[in-house]
Amino acid sequence: MTAPAQKAPEKKVYIRTYGCQMNVYDSSRMADALAPLGYGTTENPEDADMVILNTCHIREKAAEKVFSDLGRLRPLKGEKDLIIAVAGCVAQAEGAEIMTRAPFVDIVVGPQAYHRLPQMIGEVKAKRVGAEHRKLIDTEFPVESKFDLLPAPRQEGPAAFLSVQEGCDKFCTFCVVPYTRGAEYSRPVAAILNEARGLVAGGAREITLLGQNVNAYHGTAADGGTLGLGALVRELAKIEGLARIRYMTSHPRDMDASLIEAHRDVPQMMPFLHLPVQAGSDRILKAMNRGHTRADYLRIVETLRKHRPDLALSSDFIVGFPGETDADFQDTLALATEVNYAQCFTFKYSARPGTPASTMDDQVPEDVKSERLTILQDLIARQQRAFNAASVGCTFDVLLTGTGRNPGQLVGKSPYLQAVHVMADPSLIGQIVPVHITTLETNSLGGTLEDARLPGAGLKQEPQVARR
Ligand code: 5AD
Ligand code: SF4
Repeated sequence: MTAPAQKAPEKKVYIRTYGCQMNVYDSSRMADALAPLGYGTTENPEDADMVILNTCHIREKAAEKVFSDLGRLRPLKGEKDLIIAVAGCVAQAEGAEIMTRAPFVDIVVGPQAYHRLPQMIGEVKAKRVGAEHRKLIDTEFPVESKFDLLPAPRQEGPAAFLSVQEGCDKFCTFCVVPYTRGAEYSRPVAAILNEARGLVAGGAREITLLGQNVNAYHGTAADGGTLGLGALVRELAKIEGLARIRYMTSHPRDMDASLIEAHRDVPQMMPFLHLPVQAGSDRILKAMNRGHTRADYLRIVETLRKHRPDLALSSDFIVGFPGETDADFQDTLALATEVNYAQCFTFKYSARPGTPASTMDDQVPEDVKSERLTILQDLIARQQRAFNAASVGCTFDVLLTGTGRNPGQLVGKSPYLQAVHVMADPSLIGQIVPVHITTLETNSLGGTLEDARLPGAGLKQEPQVARR
């Protein structure tokens, strides 16, 4: 018997994603939600019947980019019956402003309401026939959970993301997330395990658990009890075929003993952790309302490394928070030096409307922020280079995710999220294979299959042709 032919999508949606991994996840769930309406995805806005900008509000630059991109989309609207939607955190925070500044936008939908997109599209279309063009804004925090109403995600490739928690109750004084994403919400354990099983059945070998504050996870279990992230990881580790588990982004305050011990006890836990500290000075940490000191953070890192000696760390840093002095900044450099990160994300403080820090005295001048950012970035770049250089000569288990740029080459991910290139047969895509790391490239590592019997192991890399 032949499988029923899949109906070719009749319409196309172009989704542009800004910001964090959570938005990447939401974008793919929006595509899933639109598929039953006959929408396939396209990489090209000119081909699209609908455009969704899934936006980020975390820093001013990211938020402003949305308005300039909307300006570029406007002419397309004149050419055909294009529906333009703005989703994500700018939609949540600035819905009314979007409609004023870009009146050609049809739909504004917040991060907790996008399961209603199909209905909103229907309404927009119905209103267009004859009647005057109506716009829809939905930035509610609905009582129903979008996760219960969205279709099951379709897994493509061996690495998957799974959102387990959303929102944040921590109210760091610089951050818009508690306002745009709302209060902390944890999905029930059974729903997560179901989704994870579906992803593994669809070919996923690695799952990254996502949440704005992922280790604040406290989901309801089948017996009515509550599980933290450590316990959830232990449940997920029982799924046959799931070889790797990661999670991000976590908060130092929620690194409890169960989660730290999971790094030691659960073989599927990858030895890489993104644990943002933001700043190294106690005075600034307090003004940021982080709820932990520099010593608390260093103690957590020490305990984690005791449990998992091969653990590598990354962090987020903000320089130029209001009131940050040179001495405070030196404390940040000293902390980064002491921890010795594998990589980091570094940002200049950006005043966000409605956050307590935006109205604090002693805002730091832009040129001082820029100078500090460069100094910190230099330090982190040196640490990252040293970490990657130390990988040469090691053998890493690499999850092969696809084909590389050169003929015969595959690309994969090391346990430390480094991109690894290796000559190997495409039949190995989706497998985890030991790779002996031999070279350090600009943004990746190169290696050879450790097991010479694997297909493609003997292939030699063709000499690189210089690209112009
Ligand atoms: N300015 C600069 N960086 C910020 N972040 C969050 N809010 C701001 C802001 N107002 C950074 C933090 C956070 C990351 C996702 O973005 O470092 O961890
Ligand atoms: Fe923002 Fe702080 Fe919550 Fe992270 S913990 S999302 S930085 S408020």
